[in-house]
Amino acid sequence: MDKLQIRGGQPLEGEVRISGAKNAALPELCAALLSTTPLVLHNRPQLNDVRTMETLLSQMGVKVAYHDGGVTLDAATIDWPLAPYELVKTMRASILALGPLLARCGEARVSMPGGCAIGLRPVDQHIKGLRAMGAVIDLEHGYIAARAPKLRGAHFTFDVVSVTGTENLLMAATLADGVTVLDNAAREPEIVDLARCLTAMGAKIRGAGSPRIEIEGVAALHGAEHRIMPDRIESGTFLTAAAATRGEVVLRDADATILDSVLDVLRRAGALIEAAENIIVLRSNGIGKAFDLVTAPYPGFPTDMQAQMMALATCASGTSTLIETIFESRMMHVQELKRLGADIDVDGNTARVHGVSKLSGATVMATDLRASACLVIAGLMADGETTIDRIYHLDRGYEKIEEKLSGLGASIRRVPESRD
Ligand code: UD1
Repeated sequence: MDKLQIRGGQPLEGEVRISGAKNAALPELCAALLSTTPLVLHNRPQLNDVRTMETLLSQMGVKVAYHDGGVTLDAATIDWPLAPYELVKTMRASILALGPLLARCGEARVSMPGGCAIGLRPVDQHIKGLRAMGAVIDLEHGYIAARAPKLRGAHFTFDVVSVTGTENLLMAATLADGVTVLDNAAREPEIVDLARCLTAMGAKIRGAGSPRIEIEGVAALHGAEHRIMPDRIESGTFLTAAAATRGEVVLRDADATILDSVLDVLRRAGALIEAAENIIVLRSNGIGKAFDLVTAPYPGFPTDMQAQMMALATCASGTSTLIETIFESRMMHVQELKRLGADIDVDGNTARVHGVSKLSGATVMATDLRASACLVIAGLMADGETTIDRIYHLDRGYEKIEEKLSGLGASIRRVPESRD
């Protein structure tokens, strides 16, 4: 397995381009299943999760062709409406194929995602919502087997706010008979972007970005072109890394309007931030201050930024409190941060981080995608060399991270497996 070696202590300085959003790309790739004519996506991020989704779609019969910065998906025929265990186990977001397959083919088999490093992550809301739309769903041999010759519009209220759950039902409802109303829907910007993509394909959607989404089913969707929105978590990660190393960065192709809660915490931590169209500038301002945060569904503070913020808190002046409310075991990075000299107490889902003057480099292990980003930031802050093992997690969600960080002056290199 590849490792990352980082020599810390260097402030990040310069400009970096933000890639297309992973969590918008994944549902939008699946949206191609809803049309018999090609969907063209621009600003495609080059990530392992995106490649996995494209492999999944091509196994179903979708023709996938690449062009400069983008991808064309032609789902003229779907021969095999199935998402096998081998792919779903590497990427839970494969569940996003369920709604579109069912709407388009009248049947689908998708492997049940198992637990993952950050918690149990059930998919009961996806299943309950599709059942409300008339699908017959059996759980057999580890698979969700769904049938519905024609889905029908329904009024469904989510018991818990679910991002991919909302996306699955939104996509399914575009081809259902009649009107679907989704209440207690997730409001993440990626849902708004997906709705934009579906609307370009001919769907009739109102209210995306609010807790109530209304979808009027249409007989068919058609091909379209869509530009994937900027990745707000990648943006937040680079800003946090700059603040943590007391540096100064300019993000290009970024969108500050969807980052309010993150920018707010960074400002409370002492950073100076200015934003214009497509640009965010962060200047750190001397010693970082302690801050508190509680993760929550959008527009609250994103759980996908909690780990990176914890790295920032390790060297702040004073005690920061970080509370995780979305996933039950998303504190795995704490043990690794402690190996670098951080002073953190954890009580249930609350971490109290007592700022220390310095972290010191060590060998640490990445446990999930955002925990890996946290360790990269900590490595950039630490004295001496930090080696991060199991960085395949990072490649799932950060495009060319070591290239981008090197461009900002970091001393970072990948050690490929063969040279271990
Ligand atoms: C998505 C994001 C992920 C992010 C998460 C929360 C994608 C591909 N992934 O994941 O990066 O961390 O949102 O912002 O967009 N839940 C249920 N039943 C369900 C579905 C969810 O109980 O059927 C619970 C989950 O266990 C969790 C909470 O709801 O506690 C939120 O999960 P959800 O929003 O569904 O996360 P994902 O869509 O999997």
